Amino acid sequence: MKVDVDIGLARPREARGIAVLSREVIETGLDWAWTPGRVLRAMADASTNVIVAREAGLAHPIGFAIMSYGEQEAHLQLFAVVPARRRAGVGSELLQWLEATARTAGIGVIRLETRDTNRVAHWFYRSHSYVEVDRLRGYYQGSEDALRFAKDLLAAP
Ligand SMILES: CC(C)(COP(=O)(O)OP(=O)(O)OC[C@H]1O[C@@H](n2cnc3c(N)ncnc32)[C@H](O)[C@@H]1OP(=O)(O)O)[C@@H](O)C(=O)NCCC(=O)NCCS
Repeated sequence: MKVDVDIGLARPREARGIAVLSREVIETGLDWAWTPGRVLRAMADASTNVIVAREAGLAHPIGFAIMSYGEQEAHLQLFAVVPARRRAGVGSELLQWLEATARTAGIGVIRLETRDTNRVAHWFYRSHSYVEVDRLRGYYQGSEDALRFAKDLLAAP
């Protein structure tokens, strides 16, 4: 069932929760790269958006995304929904917010990398018209390949 969420910019006090969620559900088995300090720096960076999905009545966000913007392309760096709220449209809402923002900024392409073994992420991004464009050997700390996906915002819905 769909969960109603508000999507908005993350607040500094939410940095730790974002970093811990990243460590638990994205960086599993790797060194912790997205520490609270790095998330805070991303929040302070004018070319990066750190956004969260908030559900009424809950103290902590139930999902987040971090995306940086270049001149022509945006790079989706980190993205997750808490396990208890998955498959309820929250990830899709976060992604739609990011895509709308990129379109408004005149950016034509979003690219991202996922772990080679992360089938669910592959299904998720394909369901949003992202296509696999590359395989990056040893991208994750030399121990795991990444699949690179991209979406042409001018061509895709
Ligand atoms: C990938 C992730 C963000 C998806 O978030 P979500 O809120 O569950 O996604 P949605 O509910 O919006 O799903 C949209 C579509 O993606 C596909 N999808 C998502 N999860 C799926 C699953 N477990 N199995 C098959 N398809 C799936 C489906 O097509 C789904 O549409 P449907 O439910 O109508 O069939 C979430 O699974 C997650 O946080 N995973 C761990 C972290 C991660 O892998 N991050 C991405 C790489 S950095």
